[in-house]
Amino acid sequence: MSDKKVKRIGILTSGGDAPGMNAAVRAVVRSAVGFGMECVGIRRGWNGLVFSDFFPMNTDTVSHILASGGTILYTARSQEFLTPEGREKALATCRMLGLDAVVAIGGDGTFRGALELSRMGVTVVGIPATIDNDVGCSNYTIGFDTACNTAVECIDKLRDTMQSHERCSVVEVMGRHAGYLALYVGLSVGATAVLIPERNTDFDTDVVERIRQSRLMGNTHFMIVVAEGAGSAVEIGKRIHDEIGLDPRVTVLGHIQRGGAPTARDREMAARMGYNAVKALAEGKGNSIVCTREGGIVVTPIEEAMKQSKHLQMERYEVLEAMHATKR
Ligand code: F6P
Repeated sequence: MSDKKVKRIGILTSGGDAPGMNAAVRAVVRSAVGFGMECVGIRRGWNGLVFSDFFPMNTDTVSHILASGGTILYTARSQEFLTPEGREKALATCRMLGLDAVVAIGGDGTFRGALELSRMGVTVVGIPATIDNDVGCSNYTIGFDTACNTAVECIDKLRDTMQSHERCSVVEVMGRHAGYLALYVGLSVGATAVLIPERNTDFDTDVVERIRQSRLMGNTHFMIVVAEGAGSAVEIGKRIHDEIGLDPRVTVLGHIQRGGAPTARDREMAARMGYNAVKALAEGKGNSIVCTREGGIVVTPIEEAMKQSKHLQMERYEVLEAMHATKR
């Protein structure tokens, strides 16, 4: 807890963009103005501090961005900030700008950077935003709901044509090393099988047997959802062709999942997290991450937050299996 009054803050978005980042930037700026703080926008994540790329922000600079995807601050995965020299340059920019704190919006990589900067004496607050939902300290990350909805919309369309042609579809979704996106999407589209990195895949039981059961239920088309962290949809498609004799179509949804207008859930979460980040600074609770726990907001010290991990609730996988049971 620090007694120093926060008068000027820097705001940046870093790592892979996520729908709702703009809503979070807006919430931070508008809340900061309300708390009597000045705002400086830092462009391209940590690179903006390393290379002194910034601009003044106020309520006007965040008008009309609430509903747009992407990030008006641009984003990057800064290689320079990973080096001690790069971080020294970033520190110099913070001092030159007279920043009392930096609000960093992003995922785990962003927070590792924030932790480093906090150890150099700059107060930071993190806001979790990534479509992967893989930030250990927070139940939810901004962008996840929009990405799920985008993937579901695409797969619903795929299903129409798969059904007409009685085909098998293999769809790869993002998520990096986590299966949140794949499992939530798989459940939402009634997938025949979902392959996630949190669970070892046995091709015979998890794919061949699922397709067989689905056939027994009278289905003539099949939808296999693969998390990118669990393997390649192209490889899975090839095995389905070679080992089952089907002629699957493979779709890698890719970056389309990161775009689009944020859903109500992501906008609402961005507003609450943005406001709570600024409130934490006003109350001297810097060097923290604004996390969600059971629907509520918890401001967790960054050192502690970075040690926390979360696990995909495998109960969801059980639900998925139950949808395809042919007998008990
Ligand atoms: O972390 C977000 C994410 O979209 C991951 O799901 C994916 O693995 C990665 O970023 C892709 O990164 P890039 O935009 O650099 O291709």
